[in-house]
Amino acid sequence: MTTSSVFFIIITIKVIAHITDAFIHSTQHRLGSQELFSASTVINGDIRKTIPSVRLLEPIGNGTFGGVYWAEDTVTGNVLIAKSARAATSDALAQQNAKSYLEIEAYINSKLLSPHSSKDAVYQKHLAPYLGEVEINQTMYLIWNVSGEYTLEDYIEMDDGWVQLAKDLRLDDCDRVVLRQRLAKEVLRQLLESIAYCHSLGVIHRDIKPANVLVDAILTFVPVKSSSSTRHTFLAHSPKTNTLRLIDFGSACDMSGWTSKAGYRGQNKGPRSILYCAPEEFVDEEYPYAFDVYGVAVTWLRTILSEDKILTNETDTQQSSFGLGNEENLFEWRLAVRDFSHCLVSWEEFAVLHNTVPFGWDSLFGSSREGIHALRLLSSMMNYSPARRISASEALLGPYLNADCSAEAPPELPPAMPWSLSSHVQRWKKEREVQYGECRLED
Ligand SMILES: *[C@@H]1O[C@H](CO)[C@@H](O)[C@H](O)[C@H]1NC(C)=O
Ligand SMILES: *[C@@H]1O[C@H](CO)[C@@H](O)[C@H](O)[C@H]1NC(C)=O
Ligand SMILES: *[C@@H]1O[C@H](CO)[C@@H](O)[C@H](O)[C@H]1NC(C)=O
Ligand SMILES: *[C@@H]1O[C@H](CO)[C@@H](O)[C@H](O)[C@H]1NC(C)=O
Repeated sequence: MTTSSVFFIIITIKVIAHITDAFIHSTQHRLGSQELFSASTVINGDIRKTIPSVRLLEPIGNGTFGGVYWAEDTVTGNVLIAKSARAATSDALAQQNAKSYLEIEAYINSKLLSPHSSKDAVYQKHLAPYLGEVEINQTMYLIWNVSGEYTLEDYIEMDDGWVQLAKDLRLDDCDRVVLRQRLAKEVLRQLLESIAYCHSLGVIHRDIKPANVLVDAILTFVPVKSSSSTRHTFLAHSPKTNTLRLIDFGSACDMSGWTSKAGYRGQNKGPRSILYCAPEEFVDEEYPYAFDVYGVAVTWLRTILSEDKILTNETDTQQSSFGLGNEENLFEWRLAVRDFSHCLVSWEEFAVLHNTVPFGWDSLFGSSREGIHALRLLSSMMNYSPARRISASEALLGPYLNADCSAEAPPELPPAMPWSLSSHVQRWKKEREVQYGECRLED
């Protein structure tokens, strides 16, 4: 290498460092330093809270990485949910893994439920109501308020579950087509609000699926212990928000740190449910938030289009039309979409010709103005390239979910990689578009 090329490289590095600094300072100025430089790298920092007075009741079930129990606050009498780390196998590595998942979950939950701004309450109601942690008999437990009993997965498996879901979200309409359209908007809006909030704090959930979305609606049966026996009773006093709540942050990671990304271990760890996973498979460090957006799109579709239908046509022959409730159908649909490079418009053309459009698809994505907006949004949420996938905040401000332009701007996204020049430029451009252009876009 010649002296002049070395010199050139040094100059280039300096210029880039300078520009990056300038960008960071300007972004920092506009966001306020708290949002950019939150206490994310400090896993055991002071954001974690200890709950003093918890008594375990009986087990509810066993998760992959932990046991889940009914519990009780011995002071207030409130019924709680407690989760501990429990390894699937007894070897040391499995034990250690289970423990570190629980650590991450405690940290992420604490961060998400800490006060950040005055708008928090609007978004935090879409997250599991985390209270803190407690150590009982040398085992660490994470503690939540009780919040609903059924997940979207449970509604998908119920007969006419989507109608029940609409009721539980307090939507009412006698016409099933209209009801499905209203439910579709409501479910998508709430899912997007939950991840928009997480993303604004640098948190990626990484395992968005119907089983990880709790519906805070159903009265819950809880065990009540007396001296001699345990009986079950309705928890009638528990307030319901009738909203969707994102749960299980055991696979989540926090990308907002400068040097360490809590919970993120590159591609060594891939917590992902294959059915809901974005095509990049692992979080792309340049566009990490896009990963959840894809998961929300698939979760949304499966929830709304879960119904199967036996159709009897004019010639009186029976024809089945399947929804996406059945996991095999969902898998086939994902393969079909993949075969069209994730271009939904091409897939739809093909599917219409071959009669393989899932039941209910037309009522959501038909040729009405709203249907076109819906399909356009779904397509940008499912874009093959994470760089071009729409962000949750943009989606909330777009024409499908914000037809009258009245939505308040969701919290802003932090830079994906604080040290990357390109992500700053990208983000800066995007923000201007969202703020000044989104609602004026006409087709
Ligand atoms: C959970 O697993 C533990 C140990 O593997 C077992 O003792 C317990 O009965 C299980 N609980 C439930 C509710 O399945
Ligand atoms: C948990 O429930 C109690 C009692 O209903 C309530 O006061 C508290 O605000 C709840 N906490 C969260 C994080 O939802
Ligand atoms: C604590 O653990 C020990 C040993 O496993 C057990 O005998 C004891 O009953 C436990 N105590 C409580 C309060 O769970
Ligand atoms: C009725 O079903 C038969 C048999 O599947 C099919 O060939 C025909 O095209 C259907 N007719 C209409 C109008 O859908």
